[in-house]
Amino acid sequence: MKARRRNKSSQKLVCRGAAAAAARAAWLLVPLLVFVVLKTTRHVAAPRARSKLTCNFSSKRMDICAMEGDIRMHGKSATLYVVAASDDSYRLEKGMVTIRPYPRKWEIESMKAVREVTIRTSTSPRCTVTHDVPAVVFSTGAYRSNFFHSMTDIIIPLYNTAREYDGHVQLVATDFNRNWISHYRHILAALSVYPVIDFDTDEAVRCFPSAHVGTESHEEMRINPALSRKGYTMLDFRDFLGSAYSLNHTWANPVNRSSRQRPRLVMVLRRQSRSITNEAEALAAAKEVGFEVVAAGPKMVRDMARFAKMVRSCNVMVGVHGAGLTNMLFLPHNGTVMQIIPWGEIKWQCWHELGRPVPDMGLRYVEYEATAEETTLKDIYPKDHVLFTDPNSIHKQGFDNVWKIFLQGQNVTLDIDRFRGVMQQIYQSVTIT
Ligand SMILES: *[C@@H]1O[C@H](CO)[C@@H](O)[C@H](O)[C@H]1NC(C)=O
Ligand SMILES: *[C@@H]1O[C@H](CO)[C@@H](O)[C@H](O)[C@H]1NC(C)=O
Ligand SMILES: *[C@@H]1O[C@H](CO)[C@@H](O)[C@H](O)[C@H]1NC(C)=O
Ligand SMILES: *[C@@H]1O[C@H](CO)[C@@H](O)[C@H](O)[C@H]1NC(C)=O
Ligand SMILES: *[C@@H]1O[C@H](CO)[C@@H](O)[C@H](O)[C@H]1NC(C)=O
Repeated sequence: MKARRRNKSSQKLVCRGAAAAAARAAWLLVPLLVFVVLKTTRHVAAPRARSKLTCNFSSKRMDICAMEGDIRMHGKSATLYVVAASDDSYRLEKGMVTIRPYPRKWEIESMKAVREVTIRTSTSPRCTVTHDVPAVVFSTGAYRSNFFHSMTDIIIPLYNTAREYDGHVQLVATDFNRNWISHYRHILAALSVYPVIDFDTDEAVRCFPSAHVGTESHEEMRINPALSRKGYTMLDFRDFLGSAYSLNHTWANPVNRSSRQRPRLVMVLRRQSRSITNEAEALAAAKEVGFEVVAAGPKMVRDMARFAKMVRSCNVMVGVHGAGLTNMLFLPHNGTVMQIIPWGEIKWQCWHELGRPVPDMGLRYVEYEATAEETTLKDIYPKDHVLFTDPNSIHKQGFDNVWKIFLQGQNVTLDIDRFRGVMQQIYQSVTIT
């Protein structure tokens, strides 16, 4: 913990190596041969295999440790052992280091929902199960019920960390959630040929040739190829998702206006908050302009495999800022995303999460910022209230109020003429004559 607070970058520990397991077994089985073996191998002995532990606590988002050699994992006690370690080249505190394997470490409160994993270099238990592939320990804790966070915090980081093993990797989840695992099963199966292990209840001592604890996250819904060990991009990630859901490799080709075809537009509809109060009119306006319109409420979005296929058949996705727009990941290449931003000077935040990542995905981004006339806040607060005259003053009161008022406290009533105009522009851009 202390080491983490000091924010040391890349702490390295090179452990004195364990003898190969096979060699050890041979010694036990054939003790009489020990002298012979020693005698005949002494001067030709290769350097002993060395276990190695490398941790990096310097990122703002995540802590990660990678280890190789003789790695043993006991899930129930949330412990990994790097066998035969000596701490002569790195001072682990009391021969251990702890890590919460969820890449949102600046959010102290949400990180409390993530189980702490301990990596020890002290004496280790015997293996009861031996794996010949690497392990990746991650958490399905914190914001797993939110699609945006599941992608940003869990799936994309898992991809960054585990994809390189081409399926030959054992995923191990702490804060294991069966529903989450089931919901994302297509993606998990594309990442690993093995079922995910529930770390927290696992009584076995599993031995691995290598392991990662914590997953690699760069930015909200983005992969930075310069930071990615394998140079992955969001285009690679989208291809991967496409294959996980057996989606066509299609482009959002411009539609010929003179033909009978219409470009398809999916409108992702929210309920409870940030919903569009005049949704029927908005859908009608998009249709009037020339789109074939699909209205996608929460029920339709729930079956991910089906919804992904539907989105892949659309040219345009429209929606108010929210997790549902994360489905843009399934749009065909060169598709267009329009984000409707509610009132309240929250443009930067909305862009940061769901606008900025768009070009990296090979998609086109359009923004529609609601005016003070287009929010239901005006039914609640007088026109001269500070949230209209100076929305920034709400921001200065802290995120709780921004959340309560601007994110959870309003619906959007679109100015249909304005909205139709923007739809018209998008229609022009995705069609040809
Ligand atoms: C540690 O992580 C930081 C931030 O992600 C990165 O810039 C740095 O290169 C990493 N250090 C090593 C040695 O990998
Ligand atoms: C994928 O493409 C094939 C051939 O182009 C087509 O027959 C099929 O309907 C497409 N599937 C979807 C889901 O669009
Ligand atoms: C669009 O369709 C019309 C009528 O079928 C055709 O004459 C025209 O050449 C098409 N335009 C393009 C760019 O394909
Ligand atoms: C927003 O609309 C939903 C219905 O879609 C309603 O339940 C909710 O109370 C509305 N919220 C506000 C702040 O008006
Ligand atoms: C990509 O989309 C834009 C606008 O929708 C369009 O003008 C362009 O022709 C498309 N490119 C390809 C290769 O389809």
